This record gives sequence, C-alpha cells and structure tokens, in this order.
Amino acid sequence: MCGIVGYIGVSQAAPILLDGLSKLEYRGYDSAGIAVYDGENIKVQKAIGRLKVLSEQTHDGATMTGMAGIGHTRWATHGAPSNQNAHPHFNQEETIAVVHNGIIENYLKLKKHLEGKGYQFVSDTDTEVVVHLLDYYYKGDPIEAITRVMHRVEGSYALGIMFKAHPGILYAVRKDSPLIVGHGKDGNLIASDVPAVLKYTRNVYFIQNEEIAVLSEEDISFYNVDGEEITKESTTIDWDINAAEKGGYEHFMLKEMYEQPQTVRDTLNPRIKDGTIDIEELGMSEDEICRIRKIHIVACGSAYHTGVTAKYVFEGIARIPVEVDLASEFRYRNPILQQDELVIIISQSGETADSLAALREAKNRGIKTLGIVNVVGSSIAREADKVMYTWAGPEIAVATTKAYSAQLVAEYLLAIKFAQIRGEITDTEVASYLKDLQKLPEQIEMLLSNKEKIQHFANRYISAKDVFFVGRGLDYAISMEGSLKLKEISYIHSEAYAAGELKHGTISLIEEGTLVAAVVTQEALYKKTISNIVELTSRGAFVLAVTNTGNTEIEKAADYVIYIPQTNRWFTNSLAIIPLQLFSYYVSVGKGCDVDKPRNLAKSVTVE
Ligand code: AGP
Repeated sequence: MCGIVGYIGVSQAAPILLDGLSKLEYRGYDSAGIAVYDGENIKVQKAIGRLKVLSEQTHDGATMTGMAGIGHTRWATHGAPSNQNAHPHFNQEETIAVVHNGIIENYLKLKKHLEGKGYQFVSDTDTEVVVHLLDYYYKGDPIEAITRVMHRVEGSYALGIMFKAHPGILYAVRKDSPLIVGHGKDGNLIASDVPAVLKYTRNVYFIQNEEIAVLSEEDISFYNVDGEEITKESTTIDWDINAAEKGGYEHFMLKEMYEQPQTVRDTLNPRIKDGTIDIEELGMSEDEICRIRKIHIVACGSAYHTGVTAKYVFEGIARIPVEVDLASEFRYRNPILQQDELVIIISQSGETADSLAALREAKNRGIKTLGIVNVVGSSIAREADKVMYTWAGPEIAVATTKAYSAQLVAEYLLAIKFAQIRGEITDTEVASYLKDLQKLPEQIEMLLSNKEKIQHFANRYISAKDVFFVGRGLDYAISMEGSLKLKEISYIHSEAYAAGELKHGTISLIEEGTLVAAVVTQEALYKKTISNIVELTSRGAFVLAVTNTGNTEIEKAADYVIYIPQTNRWFTNSLAIIPLQLFSYYVSVGKGCDVDKPRNLAKSVTVE
C-alpha cells in the first residue's frame, strides 16, 4: 500500500523525505515522488520503480532545496505505475500539492463534477480529484477547504497537503488509512507509520479518523472535521531504534525469524503470573467468558492461518465451537451471528481493509469483538471492543513470521484461559500447558540454530515448479502457512492439502521428483499421514517430513526428515513453522528474489 511522509523544520526536507520513504518501502510500491517548497514554488520530482531511482535523480535530495515537503511511495490501484500517476499531485496552478494513501471511492462522480467546472485531469488516479477539490474550495483558509473536501469524498484516505500560499505549514488528515505525526526537536513530521519518523523523534501522535493535523516548524495543532481545534495526547515510542532496521541481517525476514523466541516470550510472559494466565487487560468477566456459545475467527492471509490453528485449539481444549472465516468472505456472506457469540479479528497491521470491515460488520450486528493485533493504536485495535496485543514489535518484511508466531501463542493463552474458566480443564492441566508454552522460545531458538541443514536442502529446490504441503488436523493448518510462505516470496506455485484429500484429486499432479512437505506432528494421526506419504513416494514424489523428535518410524516412508522438539500436541504449529519459514526464505534467496518486498504484494493491505 502507499506510504506518505512529510517534514517541516530547520533542515533540508528532501533527504529526510527520502529517508522516511525508505522506512516505508515494506508497504510495497511501484513509484515514488516528493514535493518541496523552495522558497518560491512547490517543486515535484517523481520516478517509476525503486526509491533509489528517485534518490539518484535528486542526488539524494540535494537538488531539491527547501525545508518543507511531502513524499509518497505509490502502490498502483487506479492507473498504471507511471510518472503521471505517481504522487504528489498538483492542482492546475501548481499551488497545492497532495500525497494520498487510500482509495477515493466516489472519484468518478467527483471527477465529472470538477470537469464540468473546467478542471483538467492529467492522471488516471482517484487522488487527483482531491487536489482539484481542494483548489475548488480554497478561499484563503486551508482548514475550511480540507473540511469541505472531507465532506465530499467517500472512501479511505491519509493525505499530506501543501499550499503555496501557506509555505510554513503542512496539513495532514486521515480516514481509514494510517497516519501519525512526529514532534521532533528540529522539525515536525507526518508518516504512514512510526519507523519513518523514529530517526528524528520518539514523540508521536496517532491521528484518528477525520482528524486534521497542522504542522509548522515548531508547533502542531489538531482540528476535527468541523474545523474546531482539538487537543491530543502524544505517545512516546519505546521501540529499540534497531527494531525498525535490519540490524546486520541480510533481510528483514531473516531478522524477524530470529526475533521469534523473543516475540513469543514478550507475548507470553506479561500474561503468565504466579502460574496462571492473566488476561485482565481484556476486561472480560468470567460470566461473559462462560456465556460464549460460539467463536468466529476472522482474518486474512497468515493471520487467517493462525485462526485455523486456533479453531483446533479452542475446540480441543475449551470445547467452544469455532468458525474460521477469511475476512473478505465473512463481510459479504451475511454470516449468522447470535448473542453470546464472540468475533475475534486477527491482524498484524490492524489496518487490513477486509478485516476492519468484518469487525465493523460484527459490531453493527451487536456482537462482541476482540482484536488480536500487533500494531498499537491501529484501526482494528481502536475499534474492537477488546484488544489483545501481540508484542512482536514492528514487522517490516512483507512475509510475516514473528507476528504469526506471536498470534499463535496469544491464541493458545486465550484458549487455555477460557477452558479453565469454563471448567473444561483442571489447574494441573493449566500448569502443564504453561510449562510447555514457556519452553517454546528456547525450542524455537534451537530450530533456528539448525538453519544450515534447511539451507542446504532448500538450495536443491530453487528450480522447483510446484511444491505441495500436506498434513492432517493441526498439521493441515501449518501446511497452509508453509505453502503461503513459499509462494509469496519465491514465486513457486505451491498448495496445501489436507493429507486425506490427496486421493480426491491432487495426487494426479504428483510426478517424478515433485517435492511434498508433509507435516506429521499429531501422534494420533501419524499412521494415517504416513500412509499418505507412502502413496506419494510410490508415485515419484520426494517427501520432506517435519515431525516430532522420536518419531523415527517416519524415516522408512519419507525421503528427508526434520525433527522438531517435543511439546504439547496443541502447540506443535509454533515449532513446525520454523523449518518451513527457513525453507521458503532460503529458496527465495537462492532464486535471487526480493525476499522482503515480493512482487505485487504489500505489507498492509488497506484496500479491498
Ligand atoms: C503473510 O505473509 C502475508 N503477507 C499476508 O497474508 C498477511 O498475513 C495478511 O495480509 C494479513 O495481514 P494483517 O495480519 O496485517 O491483517
């Protein structure tokens, strides 16, 4: 999704804008641009492709002098990647410049209206209506023009705006697209996300829907949609600055995989007190938890996969019926939701458009919602009735790893706590689960330290055309995630199948040498999956098995075996995913793919 930045202060703006945009590269983009006020005019420079093209064009910003500016990385939605469609966009007189993240849904209607008033459009974007509309309403008061535009546009937006007539000021406004403001010593900043400003300040304001921020070199003020001034509290960001950088690793994905033990600890530890689980933060009474008749888990992508895992765990431990839905399906399928049901929305970014819409759908129907979210202050975190944060810190690589692992353990904690409160498990069982949970970080470390074996294996498969991932029960849930990891970063076609389904179609795709990763961690299902492995190898498949330490029997059936340490059967997904992540990572590196920013993908999918 697009990224926006803005700076106004005592330093040259362009290098700060380029630096800020580089911290937002993870959001995915295909072109970039910056606008800087040079003392007389607003100057714009744009480039298609990577940010380094824009940096080269501007000699790292040196050719664009001025201490106020806005910048943008564009992930094309309306109109192909091109200079004309790249932001910032100007009004005809080049006196107003705008950068935008989001989608203006009624832009065609507005465009027609503006064309009728004589406005000429030069791009195919929805954004251009915003700048012409601002021009149309601007009568000397930028706030008034902005609020009038807010009343006219439908859809989502985070906007950075400059008016040539107000050179010492930057304007920013949002609705349903992320926006933060940083209050720095040598100037103030706007950005789509915190990493873009961390180098300059830790003092950040999270802008809420339909709020306007007005930044000068020294001051920041805020207004509501009626143009009335409002007060806001700032937040001090206490992330380690390195958390938003690569910290010596070749890729963010590798760094984030290595952060998983810590992430799991950070998500577990604050919630385990005196041998019991403390989820007071949710403010849910025991009575409320006992009354839950059904849980709906709704999410997208990897977050959805953790939901599939959670279904097995909630049903298995807490005996609560669970439905898992893709958010894009849930929001349009008119789901049956009843009182005393709970909708859990899982999201790393907290900004995924479909997940947010699903949350709103549930709320509109009067159903209690709980967000399991990583990004503090994100839309889902703010709008859900209850929030449980996964303390994974900023995740930059498009392919999620540490947030995925944090989501899993957050879900285990909830399932165990609900089970205990509902009398489904004893205190002794809780203690035993907690003991196993607390071993996970160390066990993940151990698996990560074995990376060479997987790296070596992965190198043999960089030319693979198709890879299949199979498993039963929880092993099927992890197969889905293993398959997504591989396809998203290596561009190898891969599919996950419930092992028992192979004979119903998929096995016809197996050819001599086809790689199949079989996950076999559920003891009760060992024999069943091993039979499937035999069926696969006898048709020429090469089977890589991921199984529990001790299950040596599998060596008779599979061609290559990776063992994970022993843990409780409900938690094996937290361990089995590690070799699968490493495998995908090394295939991607071996193929020379852009590991952290795979083609066509964005970190945060803030449009439908
Ligand atoms: C996973 O690696 C993905 N890039 C993607 O599937 C992601 O999990 C999905 O878009 C959901 O994002 P969210 O957790 O931020 O809502």
